[in-house]
Amino acid sequence: MLKIAPSILSADFAALGAEVERVDTAGADYIHIDVMDGRFVPRITIGSDVVKALRRHTKKTFDVHLMVEQPENQIDAFADAGADFISFHVEAVKHGHRIVQAIHGHGLKAAIALNPGTPAVMVEPYIDDVDMILVMTVNPGFGGQKFISLTLKKIRQIREMITASGRPIELEVDGGINADTAKLVVDAGADVLVAGSAVFGEKNLSEAIRSIRIA
Ligand code: DX5
Ligand code: ZN
Repeated sequence: MLKIAPSILSADFAALGAEVERVDTAGADYIHIDVMDGRFVPRITIGSDVVKALRRHTKKTFDVHLMVEQPENQIDAFADAGADFISFHVEAVKHGHRIVQAIHGHGLKAAIALNPGTPAVMVEPYIDDVDMILVMTVNPGFGGQKFISLTLKKIRQIREMITASGRPIELEVDGGINADTAKLVVDAGADVLVAGSAVFGEKNLSEAIRSIRIA
């Protein structure tokens, strides 16, 4: 079943609680939360205290995407804040399995994220352990960028690896997803679609979510 994960990066930051409620009511499956540290990517966005405050506003799954250096230092805080999934970038870590274990130790789901330039083979060492694989379809750092179609081949390759593993791993894509690109990534094997500007940039959030879902 296809899941839609609106990214609150494109929401009104002065009213995040209300924005989360609005997108919950509009039919979001997961709430995607983009955490940036100003080092792994240029911007600084949302910290664990904000996530903790948002937790009161919805029961939906919190899908926390860490775009940070040394994500191992953030796991406890985001677990405590109420994350359900925590994803970290393979490009940012030296001891990835230890981080997966730390996430699982909190009873949460662990995901690895790959930049557009990172090859599918980087997934292999994690295939027995992770619950989700996040393929970035833009370079992380900003909302509203153009989808990089070269990533479609990698989505297909990772879908094959997941099928071969026989494990229930979700395949999430993030960046430049709208009703048009949704068709392409779903066809390539994605089953969780992150969308920021294509949801929060529209007046009617449920219409926006629906148009991506039926793509
Ligand atoms: C980009 C973030 C994305 C971003 C997607 O670094 O990881 O989650 O919010 O925004 P859109 O859907 O506008 O490309
Ligand atoms: Zn993201």
